[in-house]
Amino acid sequence: MTNAELKSRKDAATPRGVGVMCDFYAERAENAELWDIEGRRFIDFAAGIAVCNTGHRHPKIVAAIRDQLDHFTHTAYQIVPYASYVELAEKINQRAPGDYPKKTAFFTTGAEAVENAIKIARAATGRPGVIAFTGAFHGRTLMGMALTGKVAPYKTGFGPFPSDVFHAPFPNPLHGVTTADSLKAIEFLFKADIDPKRVAAIIFEPVQGEGGFYPAPAEFVRALRKLCNEHGILLIADEVQTGFGRTGKLFAMHHYDVVPDLMTMAKSLAGGMPLSGVVGRADVMDAAAPGGLGGTYAGNPLALAAAHAVLDIIDEERLCERATLLGERIKAKLVALQGDVPQIADVRGPGGMVAVEFCKPGGTEPDAEFTRRVQARALERGLLLLVCGVYSNVVRFLFPLTIQDTVFDEAMAILEDVLKESVAVVV
Ligand SMILES: Cc1ncc(COP(=O)(O)O)c(C=O)c1O
Repeated sequence: MTNAELKSRKDAATPRGVGVMCDFYAERAENAELWDIEGRRFIDFAAGIAVCNTGHRHPKIVAAIRDQLDHFTHTAYQIVPYASYVELAEKINQRAPGDYPKKTAFFTTGAEAVENAIKIARAATGRPGVIAFTGAFHGRTLMGMALTGKVAPYKTGFGPFPSDVFHAPFPNPLHGVTTADSLKAIEFLFKADIDPKRVAAIIFEPVQGEGGFYPAPAEFVRALRKLCNEHGILLIADEVQTGFGRTGKLFAMHHYDVVPDLMTMAKSLAGGMPLSGVVGRADVMDAAAPGGLGGTYAGNPLALAAAHAVLDIIDEERLCERATLLGERIKAKLVALQGDVPQIADVRGPGGMVAVEFCKPGGTEPDAEFTRRVQARALERGLLLLVCGVYSNVVRFLFPLTIQDTVFDEAMAILEDVLKESVAVVV
């Protein structure tokens, strides 16, 4: 079977709505490398969209899943519970930010975690409203889409969406939106659209993921906390993409002197197995009545076994420190290239959550064409890069934090070449 044959079968058998970036098909993967069915090797700086912070097939994760396979694969936690769920909840409660009693519930996808965080916030406050931000991405379910602050392709043709969801601009200094602008817009929402006493939650990403890797400024997060305190609103941090070592801390909220009331997590939580969760204040988490939370597959035993291994690996291999170290190396490389590549408008991100934004030389007009060219050329050279941002002009680097130095260096050399080549095409 060739890649081309599979592609024509895919086009006939699966809907175009499930968009696929690569025109090759995975055969196997190991740490930061993957091979397609024709034997071609790629360096994987996508990591399954921020899922494999601990690499592909980490031996400890594989062993943990194998061991669980020999015990049981599914009982439905809500029917016959198991210790690994309770034990992982205890670990997350202990390690999530906030010096207060916490509880954790597990689900399957990031969108499901977000949905449940909103359900819990509404149950706890008895209020309907939710405020989210422009550029945010919170998933492809109906509430996830309602909260998401980017229309195409996520919302196109799928409405109407759940009501009582409002968007304020996310601070973005590069594109002229200050923290003061964002806060003023929220105050305006309170005047024009919804009484703050009807708002259950404000949900934000500590570093916007799909939106372009824009970190939330510290003073903005502090101000959100203050607003929430003033009006009895719950603050939800969506850590689906920022979690599990990516930003140089276990959770991105550890970079702030503010604690949220609820936090969502997924992606790298279980190193490639589908698992998500909501952690939060015990009293808030208990607001939903028995049976109101859960799902047939929520807290799957194989995924939980993997998650326990992920937490051990992050500690044992000091992956938070490694994220920061490798992030600094990419940032230094990109900053050094700014002279040769005038499209590099900004290099940013905490720890290993690094992105480069491309704009037309000398300004801040987004250059999606240049970005596409960099991504395509990198792929031709065997380096998988992901694009993000409302203007699709940002390349984000989601290398596994376990990547070997030699493979990382190889990727940096490819990156340098393709950036320089892409400039040469423009001129
Ligand atoms: C911040 C954030 N929230 C929610 C989601 C949705 O997660 P999932 O695709 O697992 O449903 C994502 C996915 O990219 C995300 O980045």
